[in-house]
Amino acid sequence: ETGYITYDPGYANTGSCSSSITFVDGENGILRYRGYPIEDLAAHATFIETAYLLIFGELPTRAERQELRDILSEQELLHEGLRHHFEGFPSNGHPMAILSAVVNALGPYHPDLLEITSKEDFLRAAAKIISKVRTIAAWAFRKAQGLPFVYPDPKLSYCRNFLHMMHSIPYKQFEPTDAQVRALSLFFLLHADHEQNCSCSTVRMVQSTEANLFASVSAGICALWGRLHGGANAGVIEMLQNIHDGDLSIQECLERVKKKEFRLMGFGHRIYKSFDPRAKILRQAAHDMLASTGNDDPLLDIALELADAAMSDEYFTERKLYPNVDFYSGIILRALGIPVNMFPVMFAIGRMPGWIAHWNEANMDEAGRIHRPRQIYTGNKPRKYIPLDSRL
Ligand code: SDX
Repeated sequence: ETGYITYDPGYANTGSCSSSITFVDGENGILRYRGYPIEDLAAHATFIETAYLLIFGELPTRAERQELRDILSEQELLHEGLRHHFEGFPSNGHPMAILSAVVNALGPYHPDLLEITSKEDFLRAAAKIISKVRTIAAWAFRKAQGLPFVYPDPKLSYCRNFLHMMHSIPYKQFEPTDAQVRALSLFFLLHADHEQNCSCSTVRMVQSTEANLFASVSAGICALWGRLHGGANAGVIEMLQNIHDGDLSIQECLERVKKKEFRLMGFGHRIYKSFDPRAKILRQAAHDMLASTGNDDPLLDIALELADAAMSDEYFTERKLYPNVDFYSGIILRALGIPVNMFPVMFAIGRMPGWIAHWNEANMDEAGRIHRPRQIYTGNKPRKYIPLDSRL
């Protein structure tokens, strides 16, 4: 009478799935991409090497890495028709709205890639998305700033090219330091995949209908936008800024969190119940980057103090709440001159290889079925129609 629970042994109704891409052990704070510990990749790999690993399953040889670099350079320009999309957005339009719209619009400009039937097609489509999201993101930023668009420079590496499109001005190319480029590559690498998180599951859900790669990734961008997911990095900086501006002390912040007036952004995780290994790496990277550029950011000091206070408070430790990937990442982005409303966009650029790898894994699965989660019905019992004049 109150509803039925139907369990289907297959994937479609349980919402969980098998995958060979990323392994997460939340109790022990372990994260591995295709078997490689995140700590090793963070110490030795670049973002583009890691993208290749996630998508194709192996670290690239020198030749394979160069081949990927070359195709990313070939694919970095946007069709001029797509440039006009930016004119249609208001200058205060959120860059995540622009990113999801223009990524989806890549489909009509590449109709031959709406249905992928070969490894060559897949590589071209993947490269288009991974390369062009930089251009789309940078142009969304430039539009909001009222600055002229800067075109990509094929001579520059992936991260240098992005920073060039973000910050160069006519006749004066932006020259990031090696430490800034390394920090950006590390930021993207640490965000590259995280198994079946909300946005990845969205990409796989949309793929299961046999929708194309561009539409599936665009849906992932929309899911990532939320404050509890990819929007948390912006929430962390807003919270730290409030503390810095004296609107809030650290103790008051924790007390208001305990009263459930708001959540401690950048803390807690559905899977990690000990520590998020990415947060540990980013905490050190933020410190090193500021030290290398001789800058200091008072928000980092506040973040460190807040984290220490929370992690010695049983309200948080009882609930197994520790810093997650978003808690320190904003410090690095601020030091790169990235505005807060672009933080989720930066997360999305990093996550592209993971979404693409999962889309391809699902797309290659001959036994793949459309996702159709079931529900527990809690509505009305069966009842008869009431004629209009009889309704009170
Ligand atoms: C990402 O899934 C992924 O892998 C995601 C991600 C990825 O790489 O894709 O890792 C990226 O999304 C990281 C998370 C970023 N979001 C935030 O930092 C937002 C703040 N954190 C939360 O809102 C929360 O911790 C979640 C959403 C991350 C996880 O939420 P859960 O697992 O659903 O936890 P819950 O809501 O069941 O909370 C359990 C308890 C509750 O307290 P009680 O009701 O038992 O008293 O913990 C409390 C919650 O109130 N709690 C928090 C808290 N998070 C949970 N209390 C204060 N501050 C927080 N941040």
